[in-house]
Amino acid sequence: VIDIRKLYGATGCFTYDPGFTSTASCDSAITYIDGDEGVLLHRGYPIDQLADSSDFMEVCYLLLHGELPNAAQKKEFEATITRHTMVHEQLTQFYRGFRRDAHPMAVMCGVVGALSAFYHDSTDINDPKQRMIASHRLIAKLPTIAAMAYKYSVGQPFMYPRNDLGYAENFLYMTFGVPCEPYKVNPVIAKAMDKIFILHADHEQNASTSTVRLAGSSGANPFACIAAGIASLWGPAHGGANEAVLKMLEEIKTVDRIPEFIARAKDKNDNFRLMGFGHRVYKNYDPRAKVMQQTCKEVLAELGIKDDPLLDIAVELERIALSDPYFIEKKLYPNVDFYSGIILKAIGFPTSMFTVLFALARTVGWISQWQEMIKDPGQKIGRPRQLYMGHTPRDFVPVEKRG
Ligand code: ACO
Repeated sequence: VIDIRKLYGATGCFTYDPGFTSTASCDSAITYIDGDEGVLLHRGYPIDQLADSSDFMEVCYLLLHGELPNAAQKKEFEATITRHTMVHEQLTQFYRGFRRDAHPMAVMCGVVGALSAFYHDSTDINDPKQRMIASHRLIAKLPTIAAMAYKYSVGQPFMYPRNDLGYAENFLYMTFGVPCEPYKVNPVIAKAMDKIFILHADHEQNASTSTVRLAGSSGANPFACIAAGIASLWGPAHGGANEAVLKMLEEIKTVDRIPEFIARAKDKNDNFRLMGFGHRVYKNYDPRAKVMQQTCKEVLAELGIKDDPLLDIAVELERIALSDPYFIEKKLYPNVDFYSGIILKAIGFPTSMFTVLFALARTVGWISQWQEMIKDPGQKIGRPRQLYMGHTPRDFVPVEKRG
């Protein structure tokens, strides 16, 4: 047995907490979650009120600055974000280096990380002005970068942002518009998109946000930190779940096959999990999933989609799972990703873009958390410890003497 205190010189308390299920890594005033009650607050405001009555630009301001903006502040913030929507023209060359069939999340990791090679005047983390410019740039440019990733994958020309359009509207325009014909963004769809962005804006210390903070704790520049967050978000246990949900619903194919998949999810010898179900913190209905389900119905109605087989499977799957003792006992409820894929597919996004949209919306949460961390006078480099389970010291054996 190895004496940990001797090996590490540790004094005081040493905790072993895989997955950080009970360890707070920071204090934060941005987002509050009560997982048992299904409560999510941003700076004190309930997520359903923000989704219903606010808009994404206001929520960005709220997360970054701590308060909702007044009318003048809102106008100025929108103008600031709009001013930064274009990307450096040379950045377009970057895309051309990727294969057309590259996953857009792979493209996002590369292009967002590359921003620090273009915007040298906003990488000094010790200058509050530069930090704020970098934050504005990231919020403003992510829709442009995401839309370009889509355009590149389908072989269409990149669309320049239009600053007379709102945030979500402009993103839809850059994604689905083409230079050769006029494109009118459906206001109902733009509103739904804006709501989806609000629902994904922040979620305290999840894997990607913790990644952003950990990367930032070493003094890395904000563009590099956000690229790290995007990489972490990509996994199917996190942001990649929205893509995985749709693949699962397509695999289930018909309502009568649902019990077979429920049985697989319960089988401990099968790695299969119900995607879009379960959450590390929520042991109740994810409040974002409720809003998402309603938005899903509104979008399908607006697009005239009456019978969507995937929605039928999703609704029935939810009904069966929520009355199954396994899911009840383990407190597994639908999470934010369960319905978002159906909406995004109906709007016209390919499955591979789902997590990209999540990254776009979460950027404001990541950068607000990063700002909070940098401003914290007690901030230290993140350095988790380990419980060493390997060999005790032993002597080196030359290769000719090894068996
Ligand atoms: N389907 C079937 N069983 C599940 C599921 C699921 N979706 N989720 C959890 N379980 C079971 C586990 O097998 C485990 O069972 P056990 O106690 O018998 O071993 C128990 O519930 C607890 O699961 P953990 O993995 O320990 O819970 P954890 O908090 O670590 O994981 C997670 C949470 C990763 C979200 C998990 O529920 C999951 O994999 N869900 C599916 C993927 C998903 O939807 N991810 C999106 C999360 S939301 C977001 O990131 C935006």
